Amino acid sequence: MDIFVDTADLDEIKEAESWGILDGVTTNPSLIKQAVENSQGEMSLEDHIKEILSTVDGPVSLEVASTDHREMVREAETLYEKFNSVNDNVVVKIPVNTSMDAEDDDFEGIKAIRTLSESGIPVNCTLVMKPNQALLAAKAGAAYVSPFLGRIDDYIRKEIGLERGEDYPKGTYYPQELAEYIRSQNMQRKIGELGMDDIIYQDQETMKIFDWGNDAGVLSGVDMVWSIDQIFENYDFDTEIIAASIRTERQVRQCAEIGADIATIPFSVIEKMTVHYKTSEGMKSFCDDVIPEYEDILEG
Ligand code: G3P
Repeated sequence: MDIFVDTADLDEIKEAESWGILDGVTTNPSLIKQAVENSQGEMSLEDHIKEILSTVDGPVSLEVASTDHREMVREAETLYEKFNSVNDNVVVKIPVNTSMDAEDDDFEGIKAIRTLSESGIPVNCTLVMKPNQALLAAKAGAAYVSPFLGRIDDYIRKEIGLERGEDYPKGTYYPQELAEYIRSQNMQRKIGELGMDDIIYQDQETMKIFDWGNDAGVLSGVDMVWSIDQIFENYDFDTEIIAASIRTERQVRQCAEIGADIATIPFSVIEKMTVHYKTSEGMKSFCDDVIPEYEDILEG
């Protein structure tokens, strides 16, 4: 699995690059805003972006900011023309659906992806919250799709919390194991047969599975990645999956188990990936046990 860092912070990108495991970077307008606020105007935004591009020899996603497909295509071409010459690694991020109100057009994103992919500009289709969005993005020619698994877990967790009168913090994990158990019991089919918006499911505890966004078949953020992976495999799509909006190490591990092509991970989560108490404990005892004769050999 390729590892991207989900940040526009130059220090974080340089540090992650120095570890020798970084394959790419994803940014969005919120991450750029955060990075610019933190850098306190040390350089222009244009130079900042150029430095990100030259630091990493892998795809760097830059997002458009419009909602109309023609404007998105224009912005994407501008980003590509301005920055791709730096290191030949610009990928343009296009939201799968830019509509914010009921009367807005739901296909602006898909139309922009089709136009850009036909003109050879690689697209990372972002804000994917359900498998059908990924299917349409892949059909439109997206090079990558980014399912936001953390935000889906946030949503489910909040709804479960509301139901139970509890307030689960953001780091609380929505259990993929439960999703797998429900799948193994063929509960999805039953949900479909019942045709209900939501059901109460009795396991060790009562769990309410909510029908978010018209598709009751996806049971967690990681489950969404699994479903997209199945769909892409069924139809031999070349589109790669970037598991995005990751909150925890556990989500990274489960995306790797599924076989997601890429995970874009916050710097703070990548930092934790080598850490284990027993590793530190073992390290201490190995260092304590080094005998002088062995030290001599090591000194060469
Ligand atoms: O790559 C997507 C990501 O930046 C969104 O993450 O944590 O804001 O849901 P988050």
